[in-house]
Amino acid sequence: LEVLQRLWAGNLTVQMLSPRLQKVLKVQLSSNKHQVVYQGPRGPPRSQSQLYCDLKRRTRIRTVDGTEEPFFSLGWKRLVPSLTLQQLWTSRFKTCAVVTSAGAVLNSSLGAEIDSHDAVLRFNSAPTRGFERDVGNKTTVRIVNSQIVSQPKHHFSNSALFRDVTLLAWDPASYSANLTEWFQKPDFDLFSPYIELRRLRPEQPFYILHPEFIWSLWDLIQNNTSDRIQPNPPSSGFIGIMLMMSLCHEVSVYEFIPSLRRTDLCHYHERYHDAACTLGAYHPLLYEKLLVQRMNQGSQAELQTKGKVTLRGLSSVQC
Ligand code: C5P
Repeated sequence: LEVLQRLWAGNLTVQMLSPRLQKVLKVQLSSNKHQVVYQGPRGPPRSQSQLYCDLKRRTRIRTVDGTEEPFFSLGWKRLVPSLTLQQLWTSRFKTCAVVTSAGAVLNSSLGAEIDSHDAVLRFNSAPTRGFERDVGNKTTVRIVNSQIVSQPKHHFSNSALFRDVTLLAWDPASYSANLTEWFQKPDFDLFSPYIELRRLRPEQPFYILHPEFIWSLWDLIQNNTSDRIQPNPPSSGFIGIMLMMSLCHEVSVYEFIPSLRRTDLCHYHERYHDAACTLGAYHPLLYEKLLVQRMNQGSQAELQTKGKVTLRGLSSVQC
């Protein structure tokens, strides 16, 4: 409980995590799989309003749009949706909900509240069916990683989970890789299934997030954190939160910062237990959470009982 209280108060440090989690974090720091070279400053910002301003200044949603090589030569300008994500979303959605897949959403009875938002973002293969009372049943957009897109067991091109929603896929490129290097050697091949689904259902808005967008979010976390953070991309959850802050007027985030229901159950829809799912091993998840905690405009009561954080949309931030 002390770890939780410190997270709610925004003063949790790595030294307070279990020895196992501290060890995994060290391993990640030294392996630097994605060849991250960061030369910018580190350290916490002075105030919440400065943090919002920093986000507004630095967050630019980018998707692969076919204007750059190798995608230009491959004819992707005609393959990607004709409207950009921003054009598709402009002033359509005022209130947005981000529903993480944490086990702690079980028994929350948050479903109706979540569905009352104009748009709802979910992650990977997190289902609504059978969990409506706790997670609702509206899905407007889904962020999927390249494993979901490429592994046959997820049935990406024909599962109902990935139909009738806006899809955003991502894959971790190296920190400074160019798009050609990434295209030739993605972590998991998301490009072939992307082409396939664009041809199969061209009317479905489906975008690939630009690696520069992903890494700009990493830079932002590191820039606002004194510790060295894991040199791996941010979690889908953080990517989703930043996306919705850019697209919506107000964002409610559920169970990213754990409520009193916190549990070692990794996902609400799977029987797998691991504290690293909530506090981070590969992703700089603890630091993402501390940053989101600092931006919270909602009450401590909502944080503790609902696991709910309320964030301002960046369009309403005046700097
Ligand atoms: O595991 P997956 O990436 O599909 O989960 C979606 C997101 O929900 C994660 O990227 C993470 O940000 C968040 N999450 C969490 N705690 C958990 C499980 C997921 O914060 N126990």
